[in-house]
Amino acid sequence: MNKQIGLGTWSWGNKLIWNYQEDNDEELRCTLLEALKRGFSFVDTADSYGTGKLKGRSESLLGNFLNDLPAYKKNKIEIATKLAPYPWRIGNKGFNSPYFESAKRLKDRLDIVQLHWSTAIYNPWQDYQLLNNLCDLNDCGFQFKIGLSNIGPERLKKIINFLSKRGKKIYCVQVQYSLLSPNIDKQRLVQQICFENQIKFLAYSPLAFGILSKKRNEAEMQKDSIVRKFIFSEYMESTFALRTLIKKIADARSVSPAQVAVNWCCYQGAIPIVGLRKKSHVIDISNIFSWDLTVEEFDQLESLSKECSKKMPSNPFSSS
Ligand SMILES: NC(=O)c1ccc[n+]([C@@H]2O[C@H](COP(=O)([O-])OP(=O)(O)OC[C@H]3O[C@@H](n4cnc5c(N)ncnc54)[C@H](OP(=O)(O)O)[C@@H]3O)[C@@H](O)[C@H]2O)c1
Repeated sequence: MNKQIGLGTWSWGNKLIWNYQEDNDEELRCTLLEALKRGFSFVDTADSYGTGKLKGRSESLLGNFLNDLPAYKKNKIEIATKLAPYPWRIGNKGFNSPYFESAKRLKDRLDIVQLHWSTAIYNPWQDYQLLNNLCDLNDCGFQFKIGLSNIGPERLKKIINFLSKRGKKIYCVQVQYSLLSPNIDKQRLVQQICFENQIKFLAYSPLAFGILSKKRNEAEMQKDSIVRKFIFSEYMESTFALRTLIKKIADARSVSPAQVAVNWCCYQGAIPIVGLRKKSHVIDISNIFSWDLTVEEFDQLESLSKECSKKMPSNPFSSS
């Protein structure tokens, strides 16, 4: 199985959910360096990452860390951002400024530009205008691949058609995909379309805020934001059976529960984007390159995932 792993940077600059602390930036640099060393394929960021005054912080940190690296190292990994289609970013030029601002923060290392979510619900034409905008930028010589995020199967098919008329192809699509994802059947339809059209299918939040990774100790939980404490308290009971099975599989293989949950994505041909801010977690996750789930393990996980009544909230802008 030819596996790939992406490094997710939502937590880099996010105080509200991830309790980001500026004095931890060196650890983030080490996280990126370790991912480079261990053969991660890409880094995922977004222009909206970073809360309040820290908006854009994830891109800036990444740009600064990459800037300090020699070309042979940084060229080994693709850098993907997501541009937010806010209601005021409209028309065929709505993404011009956001694109140049992201490119500036990333010090011109921008390989993939993804539409962060679909506008189908609040402005059905905006998606197309902004994608047209990205095609125009490509045609003007700005080189990047185009990706989508939080898109449903119907919209995806329409956008594939739309872009083909401009002679463009979608490179990747990312949706929420984990053992606790809502609407997993819908996500699998998206994956099927990606497969038929040679589009990379990316699984974001594969650890569901960390609920699916190892049990956290008191000291770790003390450092959590209020939002995260609330999420954990809401899901611990309803996910008990699933987490127990994950731990059982992990213990039998002497791997971590996080590896089991991430490998569940890989087993299905998805490329996981794992939220990482610790070098030790990169090292741990990189071990999935050396083992695969068996059919029996996958089936057991599937069945308990289906039985789990309480799933993560879905992205409100995810289209049909
Ligand atoms: N397109 C979108 O709308 C969208 C939405 C959400 C996310 N994403 C992308 O997907 C990425 C990943 O999603 P996510 O950030 O929601 O979270 P995630 O990957 O599902 O979970 C991250 C959590 O897992 C923990 N973790 C990671 N590796 C671990 C390991 N080896 N052992 C134990 N715990 C481990 C982290 O621990 P610590 O807390 O200790 O660091 C963190 O709490 C994001 O960073 C972002 O790039 C995209």
